[in-house]
Amino acid sequence: MTTYNPIDLLFGGMEKLSPGGNEHTRHVLRLLPTQQFRVIVDAGCGTGRQTMVLAQELSTLVNAVDAHEPFLTDLSGYAKSAGIDRFIQTHCLDMQQIPSVFPQIDLLWSEGAAYNIGFANALTTWAAAIAKNGFAVVSELSWLKEQIPVAVSDFFGSGYPDMKSIPQNLAIAEAAGYTLITTYILPKAAWIEGYYDVLEPRATALVSHPDSSVRNLAIETLKEIDTFNHSEDSYGYVFYVLQRT
Ligand SMILES: C[S@@+](CC[C@H](N)C(=O)[O-])C[C@H]1O[C@@H](n2cnc3c(N)ncnc32)[C@H](O)[C@@H]1O
Repeated sequence: MTTYNPIDLLFGGMEKLSPGGNEHTRHVLRLLPTQQFRVIVDAGCGTGRQTMVLAQELSTLVNAVDAHEPFLTDLSGYAKSAGIDRFIQTHCLDMQQIPSVFPQIDLLWSEGAAYNIGFANALTTWAAAIAKNGFAVVSELSWLKEQIPVAVSDFFGSGYPDMKSIPQNLAIAEAAGYTLITTYILPKAAWIEGYYDVLEPRATALVSHPDSSVRNLAIETLKEIDTFNHSEDSYGYVFYVLQRT
């Protein structure tokens, strides 16, 4: 019997696996008060769009951590083609295990991935490994308004019931041992270009797939995109730019 990996079928070969673009990664990187870091970890790097930006901008080794080996294989290929493989080291590792492998991190970066282990848990876990006065830049889906359209609250009520507002996430960050440098909200276009505009036709093509797990992921993805189209700016991806105290 043929087995299918829904993630590879839907996302395979995609340059980015969450909203955001190189210009946004670069912009947020420049919000930090220094650009000199000894140990850099990109947690939940996926196929490494942002890893490549960090490596190119900083010309320093970036440790790219992800639990899904095929994404890391893609990243290694992209890094080699771009001639920056000496600046990227991949690690097939659970993000939860980062402190046991990297005990003194100067910059912990994580775009669109911390939610996998819970935002609060991720910040607390990684705080143990971030050097005093080191930095954490973590993006997290966040409520931006108090009035949420019903279809949106229904979707996230089952899809991401833990989603919090910016003030709630700032309180979580402070309790986990960080001070806030700034926040940055990804513009709406960054969700569409190279992400939803690639994902939507892929998902549409997979809704009649013979494997139910592939069909379900495709249907859920189309629901997510429809929710985004009716969001009325009630939620967004927020970068929390933090310093370890
Ligand atoms: C939505 S993707 C974001 C990838 C990338 N940062 C980007 O923005 O394109 C989330 C990533 O987290 C990874 N991931 C999920 N749970 C993980 C875990 N416990 N440890 C390490 N990586 C994990 C997934 O394999 C996936 O690559």
